Amino acid sequence: MSIYGVTKGTKFEEQVDKNGKGEEQGASMYAGLAFLAKERGLDEISEILLKIATDEMCHAGIYEVLNGHTNQDIFELLKKIAPAESNAFEGLNQFAGKVRGIGLEDAAKQIEAIALDERRHGELLKNIVDKQSK
Ligand SMILES: [Fe+2]
Ligand SMILES: [Fe+2]
Repeated sequence: MSIYGVTKGTKFEEQVDKNGKGEEQGASMYAGLAFLAKERGLDEISEILLKIATDEMCHAGIYEVLNGHTNQDIFELLKKIAPAESNAFEGLNQFAGKVRGIGLEDAAKQIEAIALDERRHGELLKNIVDKQSK
């Protein structure tokens, strides 16, 4: 049986939300530390921290599902999100240009790398949705 929404409307709803927010913060904190470790050439440590970040993201996702925050209609939601991911490519490249404009070349490069990821996310989602609708 699915755990979707089972804590919604119960006395645990608030605690589940709180736990979820904590996990989200943990995920970005560990991902940030992983990036810093990588910058310093600490590749093994970076990988461990990134794995922990992924765990925390998964935990956040479970809390989302418990309180029924995630749209249950997976493909309907992905169909809506795919264009936003693809469009982010252009927006982020413009943003990277502005960041470059104040002399932050390395930061601009990272934002451009994010832009490429978002475009890839858009393509992946579109493929999923297209396959599903066949
Ligand atoms: Fe966690
Ligand atoms: Fe994305």
